[in-house]
Amino acid sequence: MSLTRRGLLAAGTGAAALLVAPQLRAQSSWPDQTITLVIPFAPGGPTDAVGRLIAEVMARDLGVNMVVQNVGGAGGTTGTNRVAQARPDGYTILLHNIGMATAPTLYRRLPYDPLTAFEYIGLVTATPMVWMARPDFPGETFADMLRFVRERRDRVNLANAGLGSASQLCGTLFQAQLGVGATTISYTGSGPIYPEIIAGRIDIYCDQTTSAIPFIQARSVKAMAVTTAEPLPQVPGVPTATGAGLQGFEIAVWHGVYAPRGTPAPVVARLNQALRVALRDPRVVQRLNELGSPPEPESRQTPEAHRAHVAAEIAKWRPILQAAGQFAD
Ligand code: MLT
Repeated sequence: MSLTRRGLLAAGTGAAALLVAPQLRAQSSWPDQTITLVIPFAPGGPTDAVGRLIAEVMARDLGVNMVVQNVGGAGGTTGTNRVAQARPDGYTILLHNIGMATAPTLYRRLPYDPLTAFEYIGLVTATPMVWMARPDFPGETFADMLRFVRERRDRVNLANAGLGSASQLCGTLFQAQLGVGATTISYTGSGPIYPEIIAGRIDIYCDQTTSAIPFIQARSVKAMAVTTAEPLPQVPGVPTATGAGLQGFEIAVWHGVYAPRGTPAPVVARLNQALRVALRDPRVVQRLNELGSPPEPESRQTPEAHRAHVAAEIAKWRPILQAAGQFAD
């Protein structure tokens, strides 16, 4: 479906009058080619899982192909910067997580400003996290894991997806609360970590349920605690971290869709409309619920709500990360 009068009116942008605007005539055929959805982490992780779910339905609604391009590295900032630098023509968009709000504190020379380098399309989902241990871990409970970490300290191998990733945030808060410094091994995303923890080369890992639940259900790893206020029915028999020994340890990894700054407003509105269609799609909703990560409420799927959330999150995490002594370069 091209960006026609019907599309604009359906987008609720009231921009039909803009059909005569010169810049829009250039966009009147949008989209008429493949759209690239950049995932700033390796394949097989939670961001990739959510991205592929929404891309299939957004593509169908927009009437063009949408290809997922994994651009990992530097905790998600490499792929994010790739989109910040892309042509603002609506054919390159980004799905990124809470790292959009932690990177400004963690990186003193971040190549983009999250609040000025992007057009905001909408929030997608907020995903709980779960602490896992290798399958032959010498213990069964979160209390066993805390004891293991307190005793072995820097002889514990902890994985993450790089400085600025959600897994790094979870690991940082965990170590700050225990006052320990594990040996941290960084990867380009969760995908490459699972073979390592299953092989026993990584002792513990904190990841989002959207990629962890299949491995937990397959008993390939040991689930130790979830980062929600209440236990998750999708991870039965696993306590909350707060209830099993940590104080107020609750993290939800929110995800949002972005386009480069300067992407025309009617294109942003049409992308938002396609995202809303995806988040109402019965199969997408069912799969996200199965993975413990329901879609955001419709009130948070607007560009305005998305931008306000990121600004608030940048302000929220800055003092927390500074207190934890977390800086990059
Ligand atoms: C993260 O820690 O942010 C995730 O591992 C990213 C991913 O792999 O999707």
